Amino acid sequence: MSAPNKSYDPVEVETLKPEEIERMRDEALAAFAAADSLDALHEAKVAQTGPASPLALANREIGALPPHAKAEAGKRVGQARGAVNKALAARQVELEAERDARVLVEEAVDVTLPYDRVPSGARHPLTTMMERVADVFVAMGYEVAEGPEAEAEWFNFDALNFLPDHPARQMQDTFFVQGPKGTEESGSGVVLRTHTSPVQARALLDRELPVYIVCPGRVFRTDELDATHTPVFHQIELLAIDEGLTMADLKGTLDHMVQALFGADMKTRLRPNYFPFTEPSAEMDMLCYVCKGESIGNPDRPCRTCSSEGWIELGGCGMVNPRVLTACGVDPEKYSGFAFGFGIERMLMFRHNVEDMRDMVEGDVRFTRPFGMEI
Ligand code: PHE
Repeated sequence: MSAPNKSYDPVEVETLKPEEIERMRDEALAAFAAADSLDALHEAKVAQTGPASPLALANREIGALPPHAKAEAGKRVGQARGAVNKALAARQVELEAERDARVLVEEAVDVTLPYDRVPSGARHPLTTMMERVADVFVAMGYEVAEGPEAEAEWFNFDALNFLPDHPARQMQDTFFVQGPKGTEESGSGVVLRTHTSPVQARALLDRELPVYIVCPGRVFRTDELDATHTPVFHQIELLAIDEGLTMADLKGTLDHMVQALFGADMKTRLRPNYFPFTEPSAEMDMLCYVCKGESIGNPDRPCRTCSSEGWIELGGCGMVNPRVLTACGVDPEKYSGFAFGFGIERMLMFRHNVEDMRDMVEGDVRFTRPFGMEI
Protein backbone atom coordinates (compact mmCIF):
# COMPACT_ATOMS: atom_id res chain seq x y z
CA MET A 1 0.00 0.00 0.00
CA SER A 2 1.41 3.27 -0.97
CA ALA A 3 1.36 6.15 1.31
CA PRO A 4 -1.16 8.82 0.45
CA ASN A 5 0.18 11.84 -1.35
CA LYS A 6 0.93 14.60 1.00
CA SER A 7 -1.48 17.33 0.37
CA TYR A 8 0.44 20.34 -1.07
CA ASP A 9 1.02 22.94 1.51
CA PRO A 10 1.29 26.23 -0.37
CA VAL A 11 3.84 28.49 1.13
CA GLU A 12 2.47 31.86 1.83
CA VAL A 13 4.76 34.07 -0.26
CA GLU A 14 4.29 37.57 0.99
CA THR A 15 6.46 39.21 -1.69
CA LEU A 16 4.40 37.87 -4.53
CA LYS A 17 1.14 39.42 -3.48
CA PRO A 18 -0.18 41.78 -6.20
CA GLU A 19 -0.09 44.85 -3.96
CA GLU A 20 3.49 44.06 -2.97
CA ILE A 21 4.60 43.80 -6.57
CA GLU A 22 2.82 47.02 -7.45
CA ARG A 23 4.53 48.69 -4.55
CA MET A 24 7.97 47.47 -5.73
CA ARG A 25 7.25 48.64 -9.26
CA ASP A 26 6.10 52.08 -8.10
CA GLU A 27 9.11 52.39 -5.84
CA ALA A 28 11.39 51.66 -8.77
CA LEU A 29 9.59 54.14 -11.02
CA ALA A 30 9.82 56.79 -8.30
CA ALA A 31 13.54 56.08 -7.83
CA PHE A 32 14.20 56.57 -11.56
CA ALA A 33 12.14 59.72 -11.70
CA ALA A 34 14.06 61.07 -8.69
CA ALA A 35 17.49 60.33 -10.26
CA ASP A 36 18.76 63.71 -11.41
CA SER A 37 21.99 62.57 -13.04
CA LEU A 38 23.27 59.63 -15.03
CA ASP A 39 25.33 58.50 -12.03
CA ALA A 40 22.26 58.62 -9.73
CA LEU A 41 20.28 56.72 -12.35
CA HIS A 42 22.95 54.06 -12.48
CA GLU A 43 22.72 53.62 -8.71
CA ALA A 44 18.92 53.38 -8.90
CA LYS A 45 19.25 50.86 -11.71
CA VAL A 46 21.50 48.59 -9.64
CA ALA A 47 19.13 48.92 -6.64
CA GLN A 48 15.93 48.37 -8.64
CA THR A 49 16.88 45.88 -11.34
CA GLY A 50 20.09 44.24 -10.09
CA PRO A 51 20.24 40.70 -8.71
CA ALA A 52 19.55 41.94 -5.14
CA SER A 53 16.64 44.20 -6.12
CA PRO A 54 13.18 43.50 -4.59
CA LEU A 55 11.72 42.47 -7.92
CA ALA A 56 14.59 40.08 -8.71
CA LEU A 57 14.21 38.52 -5.27
CA ALA A 58 10.44 38.24 -5.75
CA ASN A 59 11.04 36.58 -9.11
CA ARG A 60 13.10 33.94 -7.39
CA GLU A 61 10.27 33.13 -5.00
CA ILE A 62 7.98 32.09 -7.86
CA GLY A 63 9.50 28.64 -7.80
CA ALA A 64 8.12 28.11 -4.32
CA LEU A 65 4.50 28.58 -5.42
CA PRO A 66 2.15 25.74 -6.22
CA PRO A 67 2.00 25.06 -9.97
CA HIS A 68 -1.39 26.70 -10.54
CA ALA A 69 -0.21 29.94 -8.89
CA LYS A 70 3.15 30.12 -10.72
CA ALA A 71 1.85 31.40 -14.05
CA GLU A 72 -0.20 34.12 -12.47
CA ALA A 73 2.67 35.33 -10.27
CA GLY A 74 5.15 35.03 -13.12
CA LYS A 75 3.00 37.24 -15.30
CA ARG A 76 2.64 39.82 -12.58
CA VAL A 77 6.34 39.99 -11.82
CA GLY A 78 7.21 39.96 -15.54
CA GLN A 79 4.88 42.88 -16.26
CA ALA A 80 6.24 44.84 -13.33
CA ARG A 81 9.84 44.22 -14.44
CA GLY A 82 8.93 45.17 -18.00
CA ALA A 83 7.45 48.46 -16.84
CA VAL A 84 10.51 49.12 -14.66
CA ASN A 85 12.94 48.48 -17.53
CA LYS A 86 10.95 50.70 -19.85
CA ALA A 87 10.92 53.54 -17.34
CA LEU A 88 14.64 53.08 -16.79
CA ALA A 89 15.40 53.30 -20.52
CA ALA A 90 13.18 56.36 -20.91
CA ARG A 91 14.85 58.16 -18.01
CA GLN A 92 18.26 57.21 -19.40
CA VAL A 93 17.41 58.87 -22.74
CA GLU A 94 16.08 61.94 -20.94
CA LEU A 95 19.16 62.37 -18.74
CA GLU A 96 21.56 61.79 -21.64
CA ALA A 97 19.81 64.48 -23.65
CA GLU A 98 20.06 66.86 -20.69
CA ARG A 99 23.76 66.10 -20.30
CA ASP A 100 24.45 66.62 -24.00
CA ALA A 101 22.67 69.94 -23.97
CA ARG A 102 24.63 71.01 -20.88
CA VAL A 103 28.00 69.92 -22.30
CA LEU A 104 27.33 71.86 -25.47
CA VAL A 105 26.91 75.00 -23.40
CA GLU A 106 29.62 74.37 -20.79
CA GLU A 107 32.31 73.25 -23.22
CA ALA A 108 31.52 75.65 -25.98
CA VAL A 109 34.67 77.10 -27.57
CA ASP A 110 34.70 80.56 -28.99
CA VAL A 111 36.63 79.91 -32.17
CA THR A 112 36.74 83.60 -32.91
CA LEU A 113 38.95 84.36 -29.89
CA PRO A 114 42.51 85.36 -30.86
CA TYR A 115 44.94 82.44 -30.35
CA ASP A 116 48.66 83.00 -29.84
CA ARG A 117 49.97 79.48 -29.45
CA VAL A 118 50.15 78.35 -33.06
CA PRO A 119 53.50 76.50 -33.23
CA SER A 120 55.63 78.56 -35.58
CA GLY A 121 57.68 76.77 -38.16
CA ALA A 122 61.43 77.02 -37.89
CA ARG A 123 64.19 77.17 -40.43
CA HIS A 124 66.53 74.23 -40.57
CA PRO A 125 69.64 74.69 -38.38
CA LEU A 126 71.82 74.09 -41.45
CA THR A 127 70.24 77.11 -43.13
CA THR A 128 70.63 79.35 -40.12
CA MET A 129 74.22 78.16 -39.61
CA MET A 130 75.07 78.97 -43.24
CA GLU A 131 73.51 82.39 -42.96
CA ARG A 132 75.29 83.09 -39.72
CA VAL A 133 78.64 82.34 -41.36
CA ALA A 134 77.73 84.33 -44.48
CA ASP A 135 76.69 87.29 -42.29
CA VAL A 136 80.20 87.49 -40.81
CA PHE A 137 81.51 88.19 -44.31
CA VAL A 138 78.65 90.37 -45.47
CA ALA A 139 79.52 92.59 -42.49
CA MET A 140 83.03 92.95 -43.98
CA GLY A 141 81.68 93.95 -47.39
CA TYR A 142 81.60 90.55 -49.12
CA GLU A 143 78.71 89.76 -51.46
CA VAL A 144 76.73 86.53 -51.40
CA ALA A 145 77.12 84.66 -54.72
CA GLU A 146 75.34 81.61 -55.99
CA GLY A 147 75.86 79.06 -58.71
CA PRO A 148 73.90 76.13 -60.15
CA GLU A 149 73.79 72.75 -58.42
CA ALA A 150 73.84 70.94 -61.77
CA GLU A 151 77.14 72.38 -62.94
CA ALA A 152 79.19 72.18 -66.13
CA GLU A 153 82.07 69.81 -65.66
CA TRP A 154 84.29 72.61 -66.93
CA PHE A 155 83.44 74.87 -63.96
CA ASN A 156 83.49 72.07 -61.41
CA PHE A 157 86.85 70.67 -62.54
CA ASP A 158 88.67 72.11 -65.60
CA ALA A 159 88.56 75.78 -64.65
CA LEU A 160 89.84 74.78 -61.22
CA ASN A 161 92.91 73.08 -62.65
CA PHE A 162 91.78 69.50 -62.03
CA LEU A 163 93.75 67.52 -64.61
CA PRO A 164 91.70 65.14 -66.77
CA ASP A 165 92.87 62.09 -64.80
CA HIS A 166 92.24 63.56 -61.31
CA PRO A 167 90.65 60.81 -59.19
CA ALA A 168 87.83 63.12 -57.99
CA ARG A 169 86.39 62.99 -61.50
CA GLN A 170 85.82 59.26 -61.31
CA MET A 171 82.34 57.92 -60.85
CA GLN A 172 82.82 57.00 -57.16
CA ASP A 173 82.97 60.67 -56.14
CA THR A 174 80.91 62.52 -58.70
CA PHE A 175 77.32 62.26 -59.82
CA PHE A 176 77.47 62.67 -63.59
CA VAL A 177 74.23 64.07 -65.00
CA GLN A 178 75.41 64.08 -68.58
CA GLY A 179 78.28 61.80 -69.65
CA PRO A 180 81.85 62.52 -68.52
CA LYS A 181 83.84 64.86 -70.65
CA GLY A 182 84.80 63.32 -73.98
CA THR A 183 81.84 60.99 -74.36
CA GLU A 184 79.55 63.84 -75.39
CA GLU A 185 79.66 65.81 -78.61
CA SER A 186 79.20 69.03 -76.62
CA GLY A 187 82.55 68.66 -74.82
CA SER A 188 81.83 69.55 -71.19
CA GLY A 189 79.60 67.10 -69.33
CA VAL A 190 77.24 68.12 -66.53
CA VAL A 191 77.78 67.03 -62.93
CA LEU A 192 76.10 67.69 -59.62
CA ARG A 193 78.69 70.08 -58.22
CA THR A 194 81.02 68.26 -55.83
CA HIS A 195 82.01 71.49 -54.05
CA THR A 196 81.12 75.19 -54.03
CA SER A 197 84.46 76.12 -55.64
CA PRO A 198 83.00 76.37 -59.21
CA VAL A 199 81.34 79.57 -57.99
CA GLN A 200 84.87 81.02 -57.75
CA ALA A 201 85.29 80.64 -61.51
CA ARG A 202 81.78 81.91 -62.23
CA ALA A 203 82.30 84.97 -60.01
CA LEU A 204 85.60 85.81 -61.68
CA LEU A 205 84.03 85.58 -65.15
CA ASP A 206 80.88 87.51 -64.17
CA ARG A 207 82.17 90.30 -61.99
CA GLU A 208 84.41 93.30 -62.11
CA LEU A 209 87.57 93.09 -60.05
CA PRO A 210 88.19 93.22 -57.15
CA VAL A 211 85.99 90.29 -56.16
CA TYR A 212 84.97 89.54 -52.59
CA ILE A 213 82.29 86.85 -52.43
CA VAL A 214 80.92 84.29 -50.02
CA CYS A 215 78.99 81.36 -51.44
CA PRO A 216 76.85 79.05 -49.31
CA GLY A 217 75.36 76.09 -51.13
CA ARG A 218 74.42 72.47 -51.54
CA VAL A 219 76.96 70.02 -52.92
CA PHE A 220 76.87 66.33 -53.87
CA ARG A 221 79.18 63.34 -53.69
CA THR A 222 78.48 59.65 -54.20
CA ASP A 223 78.73 58.71 -50.51
CA GLU A 224 76.36 56.39 -48.67
CA LEU A 225 74.21 58.06 -46.00
CA ASP A 226 75.53 57.05 -42.58
CA ALA A 227 76.35 58.68 -39.23
CA THR A 228 79.26 60.68 -40.70
CA HIS A 229 78.52 60.89 -44.44
CA THR A 230 75.73 62.16 -46.60
CA PRO A 231 75.59 62.30 -50.39
CA VAL A 232 74.03 65.78 -50.22
CA PHE A 233 75.67 68.29 -47.93
CA HIS A 234 76.45 71.99 -47.64
CA GLN A 235 79.58 74.05 -47.98
CA ILE A 236 80.43 77.66 -47.66
CA GLU A 237 83.06 79.06 -49.97
CA LEU A 238 84.97 82.29 -49.75
CA LEU A 239 86.89 84.06 -52.51
CA ALA A 240 88.82 87.31 -52.34
CA ILE A 241 90.73 88.56 -55.41
CA ASP A 242 92.38 91.96 -55.31
CA GLU A 243 95.72 93.60 -55.81
CA GLY A 244 98.31 92.67 -53.25
CA LEU A 245 96.43 90.04 -51.21
CA THR A 246 98.70 87.61 -49.36
CA MET A 247 98.46 84.57 -47.19
CA ALA A 248 98.51 86.88 -44.16
CA ASP A 249 95.14 88.25 -45.33
CA LEU A 250 93.83 84.69 -45.57
CA LYS A 251 95.02 83.88 -42.05
CA GLY A 252 93.56 87.12 -40.64
CA THR A 253 90.22 86.48 -42.34
CA LEU A 254 90.04 82.93 -40.96
CA ASP A 255 90.90 84.11 -37.45
CA HIS A 256 88.25 86.80 -37.66
CA MET A 257 85.64 84.26 -38.79
CA VAL A 258 86.23 81.81 -35.93
CA GLN A 259 86.31 84.67 -33.43
CA ALA A 260 82.99 85.97 -34.72
CA LEU A 261 81.43 82.51 -34.59
CA PHE A 262 83.04 80.92 -31.55
CA GLY A 263 84.44 83.66 -29.30
CA ALA A 264 87.12 86.33 -29.06
CA ASP A 265 89.88 84.01 -27.84
CA MET A 266 89.70 81.72 -30.88
CA LYS A 267 92.35 81.24 -33.54
CA THR A 268 93.16 79.03 -36.53
CA ARG A 269 96.22 77.18 -37.75
CA LEU A 270 97.19 76.06 -41.26
CA ARG A 271 98.72 72.72 -42.26
CA PRO A 272 100.21 72.18 -45.73
CA ASN A 273 97.93 70.35 -48.14
CA TYR A 274 97.19 70.10 -51.86
CA PHE A 275 94.27 71.39 -53.89
CA PRO A 276 94.60 71.82 -57.66
CA PHE A 277 93.02 75.28 -57.54
CA THR A 278 95.10 76.85 -54.76
CA GLU A 279 98.85 77.21 -54.44
CA PRO A 280 100.06 77.09 -51.75
CA SER A 281 97.20 75.11 -50.21
CA ALA A 282 96.44 74.33 -46.60
CA GLU A 283 94.14 72.43 -44.36
CA MET A 284 92.67 74.83 -41.79
CA ASP A 285 92.04 73.89 -38.18
CA MET A 286 90.44 75.99 -35.49
CA LEU A 287 91.26 75.87 -31.82
CA CYS A 288 88.77 73.61 -30.01
CA TYR A 289 86.26 76.10 -28.67
CA VAL A 290 85.44 73.86 -25.70
CA CYS A 291 88.87 73.07 -24.21
CA LYS A 292 90.77 75.88 -26.00
CA GLY A 293 93.63 73.43 -26.51
CA GLU A 294 93.98 72.60 -22.84
CA SER A 295 93.29 68.91 -23.44
CA ILE A 296 96.46 68.45 -25.49
CA GLY A 297 98.69 66.00 -23.58
CA ASN A 298 96.59 66.53 -20.47
CA PRO A 299 94.87 63.27 -19.42
CA ASP A 300 93.19 65.09 -16.48
CA ARG A 301 91.21 67.21 -18.86
CA PRO A 302 89.96 65.03 -21.71
CA CYS A 303 87.80 66.78 -24.35
CA ARG A 304 85.06 64.98 -26.25
CA THR A 305 84.55 67.73 -28.80
CA CYS A 306 88.08 67.55 -30.24
CA SER A 307 88.97 64.02 -29.00
CA SER A 308 91.66 65.77 -26.91
CA GLU A 309 93.43 66.94 -30.08
CA GLY A 310 93.03 70.60 -29.11
CA TRP A 311 92.20 71.51 -32.72
CA ILE A 312 89.21 70.86 -34.96
CA GLU A 313 89.62 70.46 -38.70
CA LEU A 314 87.45 72.94 -40.58
CA GLY A 315 88.22 72.65 -44.30
CA GLY A 316 90.57 73.63 -47.09
CA CYS A 317 92.09 76.92 -48.14
CA GLY A 318 94.90 78.53 -50.03
CA MET A 319 96.05 81.25 -52.42
CA VAL A 320 94.11 80.99 -55.67
CA ASN A 321 96.27 79.20 -58.24
CA PRO A 322 97.42 81.59 -61.04
CA ARG A 323 96.22 78.96 -63.54
CA VAL A 324 92.67 79.44 -62.24
CA LEU A 325 93.00 83.20 -62.57
CA THR A 326 94.27 82.83 -66.12
CA ALA A 327 91.46 80.39 -67.05
CA CYS A 328 89.00 83.03 -65.84
CA GLY A 329 90.64 85.91 -67.68
CA VAL A 330 92.28 87.54 -64.65
CA ASP A 331 95.88 88.73 -64.90
CA PRO A 332 97.83 86.82 -62.22
CA GLU A 333 100.67 89.37 -62.48
CA LYS A 334 98.35 92.07 -61.19
CA TYR A 335 95.83 90.23 -59.05
CA SER A 336 96.11 87.61 -56.37
CA GLY A 337 93.78 86.30 -53.73
CA PHE A 338 92.70 83.56 -51.44
CA ALA A 339 89.85 81.08 -51.11
CA PHE A 340 88.57 78.69 -48.54
CA GLY A 341 85.73 76.26 -48.20
CA PHE A 342 84.30 74.04 -45.49
CA GLY A 343 81.35 71.80 -44.68
CA ILE A 344 78.40 73.16 -42.72
CA GLU A 345 77.19 69.74 -41.50
CA ARG A 346 80.51 69.13 -39.78
CA MET A 347 80.42 72.56 -38.17
CA LEU A 348 76.87 71.94 -36.93
CA MET A 349 78.00 68.57 -35.56
CA PHE A 350 80.82 69.85 -33.40
CA ARG A 351 79.19 73.18 -32.53
CA HIS A 352 75.97 71.54 -31.30
CA ASN A 353 77.09 68.00 -30.43
CA VAL A 354 75.03 66.42 -33.21
CA GLU A 355 76.25 62.85 -33.26
CA ASP A 356 74.49 61.44 -36.30
CA MET A 357 74.41 63.22 -39.66
CA ARG A 358 71.20 61.40 -40.59
CA ASP A 359 69.35 63.51 -37.99
CA MET A 360 70.02 66.54 -40.19
CA VAL A 361 68.37 65.09 -43.29
CA GLU A 362 65.43 63.15 -41.89
CA GLY A 363 63.26 66.22 -41.27
CA ASP A 364 62.04 65.18 -37.81
CA VAL A 365 60.92 68.33 -35.95
CA ARG A 366 62.17 66.81 -32.68
CA PHE A 367 65.68 67.39 -34.04
CA THR A 368 65.16 70.93 -35.28
CA ARG A 369 62.97 72.20 -32.40
CA PRO A 370 65.77 72.57 -29.79
CA PHE A 371 67.56 74.93 -32.17
CA GLY A 372 64.71 77.37 -31.65
CA MET A 373 62.57 79.44 -33.92
CA GLU A 374 65.48 81.53 -35.19
CA ILE A 375 64.79 83.30 -38.46
N1 PHE B 1 86.59 72.86 -52.47
C1 PHE B 1 87.42 72.21 -51.50
C2 PHE B 1 86.71 70.95 -50.97
O1 PHE B 1 85.58 70.77 -51.24
C3 PHE B 1 87.72 73.12 -50.33
C4 PHE B 1 88.53 74.32 -50.71
C5 PHE B 1 87.91 75.53 -51.07
C6 PHE B 1 89.91 74.25 -50.72
C7 PHE B 1 88.66 76.62 -51.39
C8 PHE B 1 90.66 75.36 -51.03
C9 PHE B 1 90.03 76.55 -51.37
O2 PHE B 1 87.31 70.16 -50.30
